[in-house]
Amino acid sequence: VGLRRPLGGPAGSGAFRKVQVGRESVLVVRGRDRQLRAFLNVCRHRGAQICTEDAGSVRRALQCPYHAWTYDLSGTLVAAPNLTKMPDVDRDRYGLLPVHLREWLGYVWVCLADEPPSFEDDVMGAVVERLGDVEAIERYELDALSVGRRITYDVQANWKLIIENFMECYHCATIHPELTEVLRSSPTATRRSTTSGTARSSARTSRASPSTAARASTGSRVSPRTRTAATTPSPSSRRSSSTWSRPRHLPPHVPVAADRTVVECDWLYSHEVVASGRDVSRSVELFHRVNEQDFAACERTQPAMSSRAYEGGVLVPSEHHIGAFHDWVTQRLAG
Ligand code: FES
Ligand SMILES: [Fe+2]
Repeated sequence: VGLRRPLGGPAGSGAFRKVQVGRESVLVVRGRDRQLRAFLNVCRHRGAQICTEDAGSVRRALQCPYHAWTYDLSGTLVAAPNLTKMPDVDRDRYGLLPVHLREWLGYVWVCLADEPPSFEDDVMGAVVERLGDVEAIERYELDALSVGRRITYDVQANWKLIIENFMECYHCATIHPELTEVLRSSPTATRRSTTSGTARSSARTSRASPSTAARASTGSRVSPRTRTAATTPSPSSRRSSSTWSRPRHLPPHVPVAADRTVVECDWLYSHEVVASGRDVSRSVELFHRVNEQDFAACERTQPAMSSRAYEGGVLVPSEHHIGAFHDWVTQRLAG
């Protein structure tokens, strides 16, 4: 799960954010030592959810709203009504259950597995496999950027359909006329289409660096960088929790049900742009529109795919990444 600067900045001790990972609710908390930690959002007493708000801040402890068991910011049980009269309740034993956490690219990455796979192999390895080297993504300096706009989409489609949609631009000329137009008129796109031969494949290339299209659409000096680091959600199965989220060029999204996915999309800008309160709506507009067009296509596909008329479909050559994604999913399920 990629959380973008969720937690109150450097002074945000006690700031928390709640995220859903598959079936589990996870709490990410910044401690008094400024370290981020993640816990399952489940009280060790009788299982109530500790934080019900999506984000917020506490002074120094997390208190369960049911019987008031209280945990410090590192998850240790520190107080409970009549705790001193309950010698059987070992404070060390009944701390919040920790979840593995890493920070990279300005995101918080969590993994529910007891023994998570290597972050370097799994997450960074996927970047290397796709882009050649880790530098290719680190040079965006995403951790130095701030969120200028966040839009959350509630999409009535399976998470895999959304990933597949992001992996090809075969559909771009059909459903994204505005994007196609911008790419055609951008000097970078013209150069690319000269080498690639078609506006369509130039659109696909630009998907990998959306800042180009966003800049082209604004014509302004505000340099938006829509987020390029992202995560693939885990399907709602225990099996899936043994993977770190897998970066691709799409926003983090959380499967909520077999036919419903929540996608959270951030538009990133330099800190000064966000701090100055400049209007970023023009640069948001194009990709917001593209997102809506994509999600509408996914929502049309979801019910149709359930028909007996659909038997797995056909992948055309420019959709070969989808074939690799299918192999990846199949391997994970088999494992
Ligand atoms: S369930 Fe949390 S204090 Fe009882
Ligand atoms: Fe699209």
